[in-house]
Amino acid sequence: MRIDVVSIFPEYLAALDLSLIGKARQDGVLDVRVHDLRTFTTDRHRTVDDTPYGGGAGMVMKAEPWAQALESVLAAAPASQHRPTLIVPSPAGAVFNQAMAHELAGLEHLVFACGRYEGIDERAIDWARDGFDVRPVSLGDYVLNGGEVAVLAMVEAVGRLIPGVVGNPESLVEESHADGLLEYPVYTKPSSWRGRDIPEVLLSGNHARIARWRRMEQFRRTADRRPDLLGDIDATSLPAADLKALREAGFDVVGGRLMRPPH
Ligand code: ADE
Repeated sequence: MRIDVVSIFPEYLAALDLSLIGKARQDGVLDVRVHDLRTFTTDRHRTVDDTPYGGGAGMVMKAEPWAQALESVLAAAPASQHRPTLIVPSPAGAVFNQAMAHELAGLEHLVFACGRYEGIDERAIDWARDGFDVRPVSLGDYVLNGGEVAVLAMVEAVGRLIPGVVGNPESLVEESHADGLLEYPVYTKPSSWRGRDIPEVLLSGNHARIARWRRMEQFRRTADRRPDLLGDIDATSLPAADLKALREAGFDVVGGRLMRPPH
């Protein structure tokens, strides 16, 4: 996969040299290129921002340096039948999640435009639709100072789904959000630590029992921490074994949705 990132703080993206993403780059699985937006300015002060029309606080990123930067990225793009996807991190975007990470992991070329200040002149975003599939994306309902941290998060979430990036692909199957549920709790040695014992079922050697226990812990945890995710599950599509165990654990199905047991 090819990834281009445009930012006024290219050093921010140095973290992409580390760990599994850094290794994937070394191995040639990920081709990540970071560009300094200021390279694409023409004035002596390398200006990238100006005051907002209509007034208001803060500064807005100028359209022209962005157009120059994105044209340069397009000119150097690997030949492909598909238009690159331009992700514009913004608190005003669609919220990033695991499903979106999977969708993006299937694409050939992602370009990230890191805005700062109050954002990028909207005309640059509209103009980019000629050459890119443009997607404003938010990390969540809070405001960062710029898109760089969001890009680090998205590149890691997307990159690890690409075959060859995570050593053992099985570890992707049983993690949080893989099936719309949170992950079950995990434990390692010693089995007794500071007076706390691990759940006895994990020492039983009974793999079916362990799998059932883990599955139920996923439902309990999701009900406790993310009732919104539990509400997204179509209970009528759950395997009969899940429904039986859920009923035994006190869950109910009302109108096709799972209802949490009272504590
Ligand atoms: N830039 C500023 N806030 C952001 C957010 N929540 N997600 C993505 N990019 C951002």
